[in-house]
Amino acid sequence: MPLWQKMMIGLARSASVTRLMQESRYMGRFARRFVGGRDGDEGLARARALRERGLSASLFYLGEYVADPAEIEATRRALSGVAQGLGQAGLDVHLSVDPTQLGAMISWDACRGNVAALARDVAENGRGGRDVLMLDMEDSSVTEPTLDLYHTLRAEGLPVAVTVQAYLHRTEGDLARLVADGARVRLVKGAFAEPGRVAVTGRAERDEAYRRAIVTLLSPEARERGVYPVFGTHDHRMAAFAEHVAQVNGWQRDRWEVEMLLGVRPAWQRELADRGVSVRLYLPFGRDWWPYSIRRVGENPANLGFVFRSMASG
Ligand code: FDA
Repeated sequence: MPLWQKMMIGLARSASVTRLMQESRYMGRFARRFVGGRDGDEGLARARALRERGLSASLFYLGEYVADPAEIEATRRALSGVAQGLGQAGLDVHLSVDPTQLGAMISWDACRGNVAALARDVAENGRGGRDVLMLDMEDSSVTEPTLDLYHTLRAEGLPVAVTVQAYLHRTEGDLARLVADGARVRLVKGAFAEPGRVAVTGRAERDEAYRRAIVTLLSPEARERGVYPVFGTHDHRMAAFAEHVAQVNGWQRDRWEVEMLLGVRPAWQRELADRGVSVRLYLPFGRDWWPYSIRRVGENPANLGFVFRSMASG
């Protein structure tokens, strides 16, 4: 990992810097680039504004690996509030959740109860078929229970979707089952430092695995089974490859999409949407905006100029 990125992760993890920044007036422009708002209402308002520009949203309440029951309950309530607002908003929204923010650190039974209740909120308030609860995929110690959770809720007829990581050796088998199920699947490269026995570790191998998974998710069989692929990537080569395979295999434009983080490569997001590709933006919301935002700067030093300009203008 480059030194620059290590420094930014250090800033993200520092409790004193986090407190200083989150209590300061810099939430302003800096955080708004990467974060949808301080609470669910602001997040939904931002999703509505994006919709007017032809972009869909995926709302995520900031926080992960939560072990404090009061914090888990606060997360559940914040997400339930958003789910209940979906009907009024008339949006095409994914509600993204990490199992470890909804009880998995305590027990998977507790997590299942919380996620099922949220999925029911989405089913009751959302637009059938389009608004879904998307399970994010965390480190490999929780891959199996996360997929089990997806399959259980799906069997109950709830509107759920799941993320898979191309870099895992197991993904080919997982995708075969998800394709047979006609699932809504978000494909990402994978963000955790996994050992070689679990995942490919080189960049080129990871990209190759991503391309193979694109071919699986955009196969004629997947189309016939009603699979809805979401390609979570900022890599224009992957998006171009997906566009090519989709065209060759006769996929309609509104049956698959590309999802990116809010604030990352905004010009390219616009360009893709203008070309007719369905684009969704991952829209985190909540009070804990600093660690998330500064990590994005760590991934791309070019964002530093943006930070200074934001601070200068308040
Ligand atoms: P990668 O980082 O490999 O970059 C490839 C190329 O893309 C770069 O060389 C550059 O050309 C271009 N590029 C990328 N970022 C750029 C930038 N900021 N500015 C300019 N050019 C840039 N992971 C996980 O393990 N579990 C999960 O649930 C999720 N969820 C998730 C949702 C969404 C919507 C996204 C976008 C990502 C995730 N991820 C994730 C993270 C994912 O696994 C992965 O780590 C990152 O997306 C980085 O990989 P990329 O495919 O974006 O390209």
